[in-house]
Amino acid sequence: MSARATFLGHSGVLLESGAHRVLIDPFLTGNPLAARKAEEMDVTAIVLTHGHADHFGDTESIAKRCGAPVYAAHEICEFLAERGHDKCEGMNPGGKVETAFGFVALTQAFHSSSYEGRYMGMPCGAVVSIGGITFYHCGDTGLFSDMKLIGEIYKPQVAFVPIGDRYTMGPELASRAAEFIGAPIAVPVHYKTFPLLRQDAKGFEPKGVTVRELSPGESIELG
Ligand code: NI
Ligand code: MN
Repeated sequence: MSARATFLGHSGVLLESGAHRVLIDPFLTGNPLAARKAEEMDVTAIVLTHGHADHFGDTESIAKRCGAPVYAAHEICEFLAERGHDKCEGMNPGGKVETAFGFVALTQAFHSSSYEGRYMGMPCGAVVSIGGITFYHCGDTGLFSDMKLIGEIYKPQVAFVPIGDRYTMGPELASRAAEFIGAPIAVPVHYKTFPLLRQDAKGFEPKGVTVRELSPGESIELG
């Protein structure tokens, strides 16, 4: 059992195992740090943490072109269906859906979620299991102690943790988050992309956790 995780810049992550290619939060067009162009993405599924433009990003065009199912909050799926993409698995925090590659579970996140002025349901974190490896993408969130519970339940090998501050946790609270989650590897995300966000991962030093700071386009191999 193995999987590869590639950081695409901002909060975008591509998870691959065998024939499965799962894209989380594909904000590529308009992302100054994007490692890939939307047109070159060839994926079998998309997972969204919430509806903000810096996460929803190129979802519509990639999902339609690839015929890929989208796993997202119920309200995001309603929006995509109105736009002509009905391959969407509507979910909400606490729910889990078995998939061809493993499963997708949505968790809570303390944040907001809207797109073009429209309410997009609950903001979420996403637990994705692919190739027998479990990843926890926290989405955009503040710190909450139930991250410990999420860690206990899903036992993720890798956590993607936002550290950019202002809209999410900064490095200090993100360190606490990574310690709560307890995944052996933590990858900082949601920083450096824009001037308002922290420009480096300094201070993200969770105890007992290996921090893997990935440049956009860089991968880690698991398993
Ligand atoms: Ni957001
Ligand atoms: Mn964001």
